Amino acid sequence: MDFSLTEEHRMVQRMVREFAQREVAPIIKEYDRAQQMAPFVLRRMADLGVLGICFPLRFGGQGMDYISLGLACEELEAVDTTLRVVMSVHIGLNSMALLQWGTDEQKKRFLVPQARGEKIGCFGLSEPGAGSDVAGITSNARREGDEYVLNGEKMWISLATKADHALIVARTNPNAPDPHDGLSAFIVELNSPGVKCGDIHGKLGVRAGSTGWLSFQDVQVPIENRLGEEGEGFKIAMSSLDNGRYTVAAGATGLIRASLEASVKYANERRAFGREIGKFQLVQQKIARMVESYEAARLLYLRAGWMKNQGLRNTRETSLAKWFATDASFEAAAEAIQVHGAYGYSDEYDVERYLRNAKGAIIYEGTSEIHQLMQAGYALGYRDDAPLRCELPAYDQEIWQT
Ligand code: CAA
Repeated sequence: MDFSLTEEHRMVQRMVREFAQREVAPIIKEYDRAQQMAPFVLRRMADLGVLGICFPLRFGGQGMDYISLGLACEELEAVDTTLRVVMSVHIGLNSMALLQWGTDEQKKRFLVPQARGEKIGCFGLSEPGAGSDVAGITSNARREGDEYVLNGEKMWISLATKADHALIVARTNPNAPDPHDGLSAFIVELNSPGVKCGDIHGKLGVRAGSTGWLSFQDVQVPIENRLGEEGEGFKIAMSSLDNGRYTVAAGATGLIRASLEASVKYANERRAFGREIGKFQLVQQKIARMVESYEAARLLYLRAGWMKNQGLRNTRETSLAKWFATDASFEAAAEAIQVHGAYGYSDEYDVERYLRNAKGAIIYEGTSEIHQLMQAGYALGYRDDAPLRCELPAYDQEIWQT
């Protein structure tokens, strides 16, 4: 077993860390308070190549592997969750699905501009009345000749008002005996007539991010924009989530690290009862627990990334990594506030933002409850992963970098 990072991995870490720490950390509080996304963020991430980090050069990407994607997410969320959410949605949930399920033509039309960061992608699965229950979605797409007519509402959509393309899951066969088989996936160009979008404000966390809604009224979607075959929408959505959840796991690991680093710094500075508070065992216990969580979360996401690199199915391992890291990041942020005392409760320090940001990830891309059901299902032999018609391609440096 080789746990070491390559020189390329370390280069990605340095580059992304420098961007996040130098350009975003100084202004993030201001945008978090204003509940707005900093206007330069998407442009800078595109310029740096991070929006196409794990895609082959021939598809407009940077030719790096899936572990590089995870490392970038860890560095981004160590500064602010909203940066990592961009990666989860644009890369994990959308662009990686194009790499996995798209035709050559779809890769050329949609993946290449997305990997270059010229176009932004988002993902429309959740609805006002359906989140965990994916097979319960009601948006529908009716086939009419060479196109589909799409109607419905999507809710809690990150980048809804920033994106150019959305990967939308809708019902194409209301009479399918198994509702899972009645869904299909579409790449919808968001400048199409009949598409409306808006932002959602008043969220507990990820306030410097863009979360919104999409509405489709008789939107004409050409048949060549259908991703995969008719009826494959549920499987495509689930495989997108296997990729999105990986980025969430890696990002939450970064949030644990940020909570740990902030706590260590404060515990070494703040004095009480005549000594630094780091000298007190109950403070040490909190810090030790953050170290434990960080190391375990990191190994879990790196294993999932390694499996993706090998082309191995990783639904089970990714779900475990996501569940563990997101729960642990919430606990780490809460304990970081406790270490900071009353100062941690104010936005003078970053740790209160970490706590607010950590909560969302326990809900989106599979609640902790869904992941527990999945893990129990695998352990008890109730769940197994069947091979897919299109698997995420294994990383091959020669193919990726030519
Ligand atoms: N990849 C591909 N196919 C998969 C799959 C995967 N990861 N998981 C399951 N499938 C396939 C199965 O093999 C099965 O295929 P067959 O019919 O051929 O046998 C089919 O899909 C149905 O699978 P299940 O029986 O496992 O489906 P289920 O109804 O029991 O659902 C579930 C399982 C785990 C509850 C799933 O519905 C789930 O993960 N729900 C949570 C959804 C979620 O994460 N929602 C969040 C919304 S998106 C979001 O948050 C993004 C955002 O905007 C920020």
